[in-house]
Amino acid sequence: MGSGKKIVLSAVQPTNAMHIGNYLGAIKNWIPYLDEYECIFFAVDLHSITVEQDPKALRENTYQSIASYIACGIDPAKATLFVQSQVPAHAELAWVLTCHASMGELSRMTQYKDKSQKHGSHIPTGLFTYPVLMAADILLYGTHLVPVGEDQKQHLELTRDLAERMNHRYPESSTGEKSPLFQVPAPMISKVGARVMSLQDPESKMSKSDPAPGACVFLNDSDKEIEKKFKRAVTDSGSEITAEEQSSGVRNLIQIQASFLNENYDAVLSRYIGKQYGYLKLDTANVAINAIRPIREKTEEILKDRSYLDGILKVGREAARARAEKVLNEVYKRVGFIRQ
Ligand code: TYM
Repeated sequence: MGSGKKIVLSAVQPTNAMHIGNYLGAIKNWIPYLDEYECIFFAVDLHSITVEQDPKALRENTYQSIASYIACGIDPAKATLFVQSQVPAHAELAWVLTCHASMGELSRMTQYKDKSQKHGSHIPTGLFTYPVLMAADILLYGTHLVPVGEDQKQHLELTRDLAERMNHRYPESSTGEKSPLFQVPAPMISKVGARVMSLQDPESKMSKSDPAPGACVFLNDSDKEIEKKFKRAVTDSGSEITAEEQSSGVRNLIQIQASFLNENYDAVLSRYIGKQYGYLKLDTANVAINAIRPIREKTEEILKDRSYLDGILKVGREAARARAEKVLNEVYKRVGFIRQ
């Protein structure tokens, strides 16, 4: 780290296995940056415990996330890969930012509103303050670009607001010059694949926690499972695809296929006009199977070698700590903490 290149940063929660929404909306879009940018990608285990986790499964899923990043094409020689909880500065900066965030702005986060509804009267406080931890993740590294799916846009806006607020509140560096404390990051949201919908309810986002069987296609699903899920995907009561109007289920399948194949929506649609839904389902299944199979196999292979993964995580956390501690130190000084 510290090459003078612009910084790209992103992360996935190691909750359950990753699904095609995580891949198409996020990870796949990290790859083009590997050569030109300094890349920082990590597994956000601190975020995962905002909802209840089985400790053993969390540990396993954390390894699995890092293995999947590599299997998806994130070359560890070209990116810093690490686990969030191994870099204490994330939680430390999150506290400082929490003291500068308002209850009002956090209450407006739609993800909080959605997720908290599932918790009745016992809403974990972490679910509420979670976007501030995400802001800390990003601001700690002087991040320029954050490639994420559509659902993270609001969190990125909050991150930008917090960065600007802090820059305004603490304009002078610890050595006395006027300089912005934080780089204000920009989101990068792709045109296709930014919002992959559930295969069972195409009006709602594909989500790891969706209990409906077949709603979510995971990167560790077998070829058979993938095929079954796409074949049973909900479309609508019609049977034929038309150029004028497509139902949300049909749109979702076209978008998934377009995103896997790096094509645009209309190019894929044009192949199916006048055809029965079944063709679209089967082709999309095959496209997904062909993309997922090598990722699944490589992930399994990497997971067998824990010492390889531990080695990558060690290099990653050391690089991340060195950079993050510098930024945190400057924040602490500007805020008025004694540093010795
Ligand atoms: P998470 O773990 O929910 O999702 C990881 C990434 O996958 C994207 N994504 C989707 N994209 C398209 N369609 C979907 N159905 C879909 N579901 C998820 C998300 O937009 C995200 O890019 N708070 C974040 C993790 C995070 C983070 C960060 C991201 C923590 N700190 C710093 C970027 C930078 C989250 O819960 O993502």
